[in-house]
Amino acid sequence: MSTSGVDTGRRRFLTVATTVVGGVGAAATLVPFLSTFQPSAKARAAGAPVEVDVSKMEPGQRLTVEWRGKPVWIVRRTDEMLANLEALKGELRDPASEKKQQPEYAQNETRAIKPEYLVVVGICTHLGCSPTFRPEVAPADLGADWKGGFFCPCHGSRFDLAGRVYAGVPAPTNLVIPPYSYVSDSRVLIGVDQGAA
Ligand code: FES
Repeated sequence: MSTSGVDTGRRRFLTVATTVVGGVGAAATLVPFLSTFQPSAKARAAGAPVEVDVSKMEPGQRLTVEWRGKPVWIVRRTDEMLANLEALKGELRDPASEKKQQPEYAQNETRAIKPEYLVVVGICTHLGCSPTFRPEVAPADLGADWKGGFFCPCHGSRFDLAGRVYAGVPAPTNLVIPPYSYVSDSRVLIGVDQGAA
Protein backbone atom coordinates (compact mmCIF):
# COMPACT_ATOMS: atom_id res chain seq x y z
CA MET A 1 0.00 0.00 0.00
CA SER A 2 2.72 2.42 0.90
CA THR A 3 4.50 1.73 -2.42
CA SER A 4 1.36 2.57 -4.26
CA GLY A 5 1.07 5.83 -2.34
CA VAL A 6 4.56 6.89 -3.35
CA ASP A 7 3.92 6.10 -6.98
CA THR A 8 0.76 8.10 -6.97
CA GLY A 9 2.60 11.04 -5.51
CA ARG A 10 5.25 10.87 -8.19
CA ARG A 11 2.68 10.72 -10.91
CA ARG A 12 0.92 13.69 -9.49
CA PHE A 13 4.15 15.68 -9.42
CA LEU A 14 5.01 14.76 -12.99
CA THR A 15 1.57 15.77 -14.12
CA VAL A 16 1.91 19.19 -12.50
CA ALA A 17 5.37 19.77 -13.96
CA THR A 18 4.24 18.84 -17.44
CA THR A 19 1.22 21.06 -17.22
CA VAL A 20 3.29 24.07 -16.29
CA VAL A 21 5.76 23.65 -19.10
CA GLY A 22 3.07 22.85 -21.63
CA GLY A 23 0.93 25.71 -20.44
CA VAL A 24 3.32 28.48 -21.40
CA GLY A 25 2.30 28.81 -25.01
CA ALA A 26 -1.39 28.41 -24.33
CA ALA A 27 -1.45 31.08 -21.66
CA ALA A 28 0.48 33.45 -23.89
CA THR A 29 -2.18 33.12 -26.55
CA LEU A 30 -5.24 33.29 -24.38
CA VAL A 31 -4.49 36.09 -21.95
CA PRO A 32 -3.38 39.19 -23.80
CA PHE A 33 -3.45 41.96 -21.16
CA LEU A 34 -0.52 42.12 -18.74
CA SER A 35 -0.65 38.40 -18.73
CA THR A 36 1.52 36.12 -16.74
CA PHE A 37 0.95 32.46 -16.82
CA GLN A 38 0.30 31.17 -13.37
CA PRO A 39 2.07 27.93 -12.57
CA SER A 40 1.01 26.04 -9.48
CA ALA A 41 2.39 27.04 -6.09
CA LYS A 42 4.57 23.93 -6.10
CA ALA A 43 6.04 24.76 -9.50
CA ARG A 44 6.62 28.41 -8.56
CA ALA A 45 8.50 27.38 -5.43
CA ALA A 46 10.61 25.03 -7.54
CA GLY A 47 11.63 27.91 -9.76
CA ALA A 48 9.62 27.54 -12.94
CA PRO A 49 10.30 30.45 -15.28
CA VAL A 50 7.55 33.02 -15.59
CA GLU A 51 6.66 34.57 -18.93
CA VAL A 52 5.21 38.07 -18.93
CA ASP A 53 3.56 40.05 -21.71
CA VAL A 54 4.70 43.66 -21.33
CA SER A 55 3.13 44.97 -24.52
CA LYS A 56 0.14 46.59 -22.81
CA MET A 57 2.06 48.29 -20.04
CA GLU A 58 1.71 52.06 -20.00
CA PRO A 59 4.85 54.21 -19.71
CA GLY A 60 5.55 54.68 -16.02
CA GLN A 61 3.60 51.60 -14.98
CA ARG A 62 4.89 48.88 -12.65
CA LEU A 63 3.83 45.26 -12.86
CA THR A 64 4.50 42.67 -10.15
CA VAL A 65 4.88 38.96 -10.84
CA GLU A 66 5.98 36.14 -8.58
CA TRP A 67 9.07 34.12 -9.36
CA ARG A 68 10.56 31.56 -6.96
CA GLY A 69 8.34 32.94 -4.23
CA LYS A 70 9.71 36.46 -4.65
CA PRO A 71 8.08 39.55 -6.10
CA VAL A 72 9.68 40.62 -9.36
CA TRP A 73 8.85 44.07 -10.61
CA ILE A 74 8.77 45.18 -14.20
CA VAL A 75 8.70 48.93 -14.71
CA ARG A 76 8.16 50.50 -18.08
CA ARG A 77 10.36 53.57 -17.74
CA THR A 78 9.57 56.83 -19.47
CA ASP A 79 12.20 58.92 -21.27
CA GLU A 80 12.22 61.27 -18.30
CA MET A 81 12.83 58.41 -15.89
CA LEU A 82 15.73 57.19 -18.00
CA ALA A 83 17.22 60.67 -18.20
CA ASN A 84 17.05 61.00 -14.41
CA LEU A 85 19.13 57.86 -13.94
CA GLU A 86 22.12 59.72 -15.32
CA ALA A 87 21.50 62.74 -13.10
CA LEU A 88 21.47 60.67 -9.91
CA LYS A 89 24.91 59.13 -10.23
CA GLY A 90 26.56 61.27 -7.55
CA GLU A 91 24.03 60.26 -4.91
CA LEU A 92 24.34 56.50 -5.27
CA ARG A 93 26.50 53.95 -3.49
CA ASP A 94 27.20 51.74 -6.52
CA PRO A 95 26.07 53.73 -9.56
CA ALA A 96 27.90 51.55 -12.09
CA SER A 97 26.55 48.34 -10.51
CA GLU A 98 30.03 47.02 -9.92
CA LYS A 99 28.85 44.58 -7.29
CA LYS A 100 27.56 41.34 -8.78
CA GLN A 101 23.84 41.84 -8.36
CA GLN A 102 22.81 41.47 -11.90
CA PRO A 103 23.62 39.22 -14.82
CA GLU A 104 26.32 40.59 -17.11
CA TYR A 105 23.79 41.57 -19.74
CA ALA A 106 22.19 43.93 -17.20
CA GLN A 107 25.39 45.47 -15.87
CA ASN A 108 24.99 48.67 -17.79
CA GLU A 109 23.67 52.20 -17.41
CA THR A 110 20.05 51.14 -17.01
CA ARG A 111 20.60 47.69 -15.46
CA ALA A 112 18.42 46.20 -18.13
CA ILE A 113 18.45 44.40 -21.46
CA LYS A 114 16.08 46.97 -22.93
CA PRO A 115 16.42 50.35 -21.21
CA GLU A 116 12.67 50.91 -21.33
CA TYR A 117 11.91 47.92 -19.09
CA LEU A 118 13.43 47.42 -15.67
CA VAL A 119 13.14 43.87 -14.33
CA VAL A 120 14.18 43.68 -10.67
CA VAL A 121 13.57 41.61 -7.55
CA GLY A 122 11.36 43.68 -5.24
CA ILE A 123 13.08 42.87 -1.96
CA CYS A 124 15.11 45.37 0.03
CA THR A 125 18.75 44.38 0.37
CA HIS A 126 18.81 45.53 3.99
CA LEU A 127 16.53 43.13 5.87
CA GLY A 128 14.17 41.95 3.20
CA CYS A 129 11.14 44.25 3.34
CA SER A 130 9.36 45.08 0.12
CA PRO A 131 9.99 48.70 -0.89
CA THR A 132 7.16 50.85 -2.21
CA PHE A 133 7.07 52.07 -5.79
CA ARG A 134 7.35 55.85 -5.78
CA PRO A 135 7.70 56.99 -9.38
CA GLU A 136 6.68 60.60 -8.79
CA VAL A 137 9.25 63.40 -8.79
CA ALA A 138 9.71 65.47 -5.60
CA PRO A 139 6.76 64.27 -3.50
CA ALA A 140 6.43 66.12 -0.20
CA ASP A 141 7.40 63.16 1.98
CA LEU A 142 10.51 62.20 0.03
CA GLY A 143 11.85 65.66 -0.72
CA ALA A 144 12.63 67.92 -3.64
CA ASP A 145 15.58 65.84 -4.80
CA TRP A 146 13.56 62.65 -5.24
CA LYS A 147 13.54 61.65 -8.93
CA GLY A 148 11.35 58.60 -8.61
CA GLY A 149 12.32 55.17 -7.39
CA PHE A 150 11.62 52.71 -4.60
CA PHE A 151 11.37 53.60 -0.94
CA CYS A 152 11.62 51.02 1.81
CA PRO A 153 9.34 51.95 4.69
CA CYS A 154 11.03 49.62 7.18
CA HIS A 155 14.21 51.64 7.74
CA GLY A 156 14.11 54.31 5.03
CA SER A 157 16.33 52.89 2.30
CA ARG A 158 16.01 54.53 -1.09
CA PHE A 159 16.62 53.12 -4.55
CA ASP A 160 16.37 54.79 -7.93
CA LEU A 161 14.39 53.52 -10.91
CA ALA A 162 17.21 51.16 -11.85
CA GLY A 163 17.14 49.66 -8.34
CA ARG A 164 20.41 51.38 -7.42
CA VAL A 165 20.74 52.19 -3.74
CA TYR A 166 21.34 55.72 -2.51
CA ALA A 167 24.39 56.39 -0.36
CA GLY A 168 23.81 56.83 3.37
CA VAL A 169 20.84 54.49 3.80
CA PRO A 170 20.74 51.15 5.65
CA ALA A 171 20.56 48.95 2.54
CA PRO A 172 24.14 48.06 1.58
CA THR A 173 23.64 47.17 -2.05
CA ASN A 174 21.50 47.67 -5.12
CA LEU A 175 18.35 45.64 -5.69
CA VAL A 176 18.97 42.32 -7.38
CA ILE A 177 18.26 41.81 -11.08
CA PRO A 178 17.04 38.27 -11.76
CA PRO A 179 18.07 36.23 -14.77
CA TYR A 180 15.71 37.00 -17.63
CA SER A 181 15.45 37.14 -21.37
CA TYR A 182 13.14 38.26 -24.15
CA VAL A 183 11.36 35.54 -26.04
CA SER A 184 9.89 38.15 -28.39
CA ASP A 185 9.80 41.95 -28.56
CA SER A 186 7.19 42.15 -25.85
CA ARG A 187 7.47 38.94 -23.86
CA VAL A 188 9.89 38.62 -20.98
CA LEU A 189 10.88 35.26 -19.55
CA ILE A 190 11.95 35.59 -15.92
CA GLY A 191 14.25 32.86 -14.70
CA VAL A 192 16.03 32.09 -17.98
CA ASP A 193 19.19 33.95 -18.91
CA GLN A 194 19.43 36.02 -22.05
CA GLY A 195 21.32 33.95 -24.59
CA ALA A 196 20.58 30.63 -22.89
CA ALA A 197 19.69 27.85 -25.25
S1 FES B 1 14.53 46.36 5.21
FE1 FES B 1 14.54 48.01 3.81
S2 FES B 1 15.52 49.56 4.90
FE2 FES B 1 15.60 47.90 6.28
